[in-house]
Amino acid sequence: IASFRAALAETVAAHVRDGRDAPVVGLVPTMGALHSGHAALIDAARQHSDIVLASIFVNPLQFDDDADYLHYPRTPEKDIALLGEHGVDLVFAPGIEQMYPGYPDAPLVTLSAGELGRRWEGAARPGHFDGVLTVVAKLFHIMTPPAPAVFEAWFGAKDAEQVAIISRMVADLDLEVSIRTVPIVRDQNGLALSSRNQRLQEEDYASALALPFALSALAEDAASGRPLGLADQVAELSSADGVELDYLVVLDPASLREIEPGGSLQDHDGVLRGEALALIAARVGPVRLIDNALLVPG
Ligand code: PAJ
Repeated sequence: IASFRAALAETVAAHVRDGRDAPVVGLVPTMGALHSGHAALIDAARQHSDIVLASIFVNPLQFDDDADYLHYPRTPEKDIALLGEHGVDLVFAPGIEQMYPGYPDAPLVTLSAGELGRRWEGAARPGHFDGVLTVVAKLFHIMTPPAPAVFEAWFGAKDAEQVAIISRMVADLDLEVSIRTVPIVRDQNGLALSSRNQRLQEEDYASALALPFALSALAEDAASGRPLGLADQVAELSSADGVELDYLVVLDPASLREIEPGGSLQDHDGVLRGEALALIAARVGPVRLIDNALLVPG
């Protein structure tokens, strides 16, 4: 941690010595097993910052299942090579004992996402978002560049609740960092890229395509001014082979609460009046997949 901070201070000082403006420092936090989704975040940070930082740390506090933590893919050499190719200046890849001295004992003081952390993914994975906030706050604290640098952190829209909850932490705790987001990166068939996709067999992969398919159908309903066919999509997915649907919901993007016909975002017939977020989670084969889409009224 101390040597990372020293290297960061030196990088910022060198930038200032060269007589340039206050540098923008962009951070991309990751858990490794990097794919093109992560690369899109790094490229966006590279484009908008003078100095790009990345972290690789598989955070045990955000796994509610020990097996999932143990089986989480780890590809450190490949990750470091990818970060280098995409122009990352400094990488912070701490060992578990650096982040959590005393591990496997949990740290005594942690953050809570409150009721926001108990909706949707938070309900399915108790404590998950508290663990995310605790590690992200630590990473922000360790990796905040010294003055006069400006600090930005980049997150993927793939994890929509994560972005909403981290943004709320930054506001509630007055953290000096701007949260920036990058759209979801999908493969040629529309499946959102995820490190967990590596564990899908061929038939699982075919089943998994039902998720983006349902989201597109809802986005089309919204864009063409039709009532949202949410119940139809839920019925379709509930009977789809190989898919165990957990939830498919349409939310107010700010509160993460479900919208209702006749409410502020939807008229009585089910036609969308304002932007809403469709969120889906399902188990397919050995993995739990999440995805989402912004629904924009036409
Ligand atoms: P991880 O799952 O490694 O993801 C790191 C970042 O990459 C997150 O911001 C995530 O939203 C983004 N990402 C992953 N797949 C993406 C895709 N297909 N399109 C766009 N962005 C994508 O999210 C985490 O790690 C952790 O919770 C972390 C924030 C690092 C805290 O431990």
